[in-house]
Amino acid sequence: MNNRGMKYILALDQGTTSSRSILFDKKGKVIATAQKEFTQHYPQPGWVEHDAAEIWSTQLRTMKEVLKKAKAKGKDIAAIGITNQRETTVAWNKKTGKPVGKAIVWQDRRTAAFCDKLKAKGAESMIRHKTGLVVDAYFSATKMNWMLKHVPETKELAKVGDLAFGTVDSWLLWNLTGGQVHATDVSNASRTMLYDITQGGWDAELMKLFGVPASTLPKVLPSSGIFGETSLLGGNIPIAGIAGDQQAALFGQVCTTPGMVKNTYGTGCFMLMHTGTKRIASGNNLLTTVAWQLGDGELEYAVEGSVFIAGAVVQWLRDGLGIIKKSSEVEALAAQVPDAGGVYLVPAFAGLGAPHWDQYARGLMCGITRGTTKAHIARAALEGIAYQVTDILHAMQADAGVKLRELRVDGGASNNNLMMQFQADLLGVPVVRPVVTETTALGAAYLAGLGTGFWKNQAEIATQWQTERRFEPTMKAAQRKKLLSGWNRALERTKGA
Ligand code: G3P
Repeated sequence: MNNRGMKYILALDQGTTSSRSILFDKKGKVIATAQKEFTQHYPQPGWVEHDAAEIWSTQLRTMKEVLKKAKAKGKDIAAIGITNQRETTVAWNKKTGKPVGKAIVWQDRRTAAFCDKLKAKGAESMIRHKTGLVVDAYFSATKMNWMLKHVPETKELAKVGDLAFGTVDSWLLWNLTGGQVHATDVSNASRTMLYDITQGGWDAELMKLFGVPASTLPKVLPSSGIFGETSLLGGNIPIAGIAGDQQAALFGQVCTTPGMVKNTYGTGCFMLMHTGTKRIASGNNLLTTVAWQLGDGELEYAVEGSVFIAGAVVQWLRDGLGIIKKSSEVEALAAQVPDAGGVYLVPAFAGLGAPHWDQYARGLMCGITRGTTKAHIARAALEGIAYQVTDILHAMQADAGVKLRELRVDGGASNNNLMMQFQADLLGVPVVRPVVTETTALGAAYLAGLGTGFWKNQAEIATQWQTERRFEPTMKAAQRKKLLSGWNRALERTKGA
């Protein structure tokens, strides 16, 4: 493809709490960004919904805004890459393009009892074997099943072949292409619980188990390659890369050889280890997932530890407790005290993900005394994120059978120095932050740029990765042990609530 004269790749990063657009140049440098938060709907305890129309309108606004900021035109864009909150499920009418009901978000727990039934029925090992996933309300299939049972319009549309299901990438692609393309990539497909990650395709037995007709599902394509074109920004711009946000961050961190690990601190926290073209089954309750597929290359895999609540706990300090006005204030507040003063905050607000997988756990704060201040609570909240990451790293090390040499970090909260130092201390492993912490969007840009020849190959991309800061562990082993045992006691008390 001829990219002559085209200066940028546009990455769309559709996350759990905001839609963002970021423009990258050939050196992988951020030229401009635009971001819009959108509404979170909590209709019942444990339920989390999004309005798919608002997802699209905020995304489109940021696309236009980022071009304006950079004084760029459609003709300057060589390709678009999409990365997205994974698992969140959208249903829409293929004829009108209108969403049907609200999107059910990955954090939503409404299908927990259905998951229990699947386990009681003995379906767990077949599901795990085919999909690499544990049976949990987290993934898309039970959400589709719920919609087909409880939203009458979905059932009616499915009967006549007019219902489309998709993860958020599919929904954006559909809108970008004016309803021409209903597709997804292999990494997003692997999070639905309907995709066989070894064979590489939708699985008939799983579709039957969840009652999801084949006609509703998107076509599955490689993560890097042409998906379609958009004319919404002027000219025709190819959409040439799609990956779930965690897989995109793994790619953006250039963790492209087996054994390399990254952790992204977003709404949740997700640690992924690239395992190459080999799928590795975890013996420690981690997930096996598709990392990406580049063009007609083989499927590549990762082992993943998913923490449901990370940055979201800071939002809760802001919106739920009101002890900070802006999320960025949390570091200064936490730094007012030298430690959490014995307070632990376990943010199991949406159950516990890896390695515990407890759908019914709920949040807990303990160790409060008369001397506890909001600074201690802020500190305990940040530490709670780091403890969860430590639990995952231990599981990953046990799976890999080796101690990790370093952990590459990214995402909004990785800019919090206090937390990164505490993280390195707890892990006893150096934590390394790159110059570009927008690695999720960068990964999507790389996939799109490779798909159109904007970048020649992975070697060219690898030269762009640079360390910004390295946090060395300084905590004494005895102190680490004491803190971790306090955390484990608190954690146990959240389970099965
Ligand atoms: O699996 C859920 C994950 O993709 C959400 O990511 O960045 O919105 O926390 P984020």
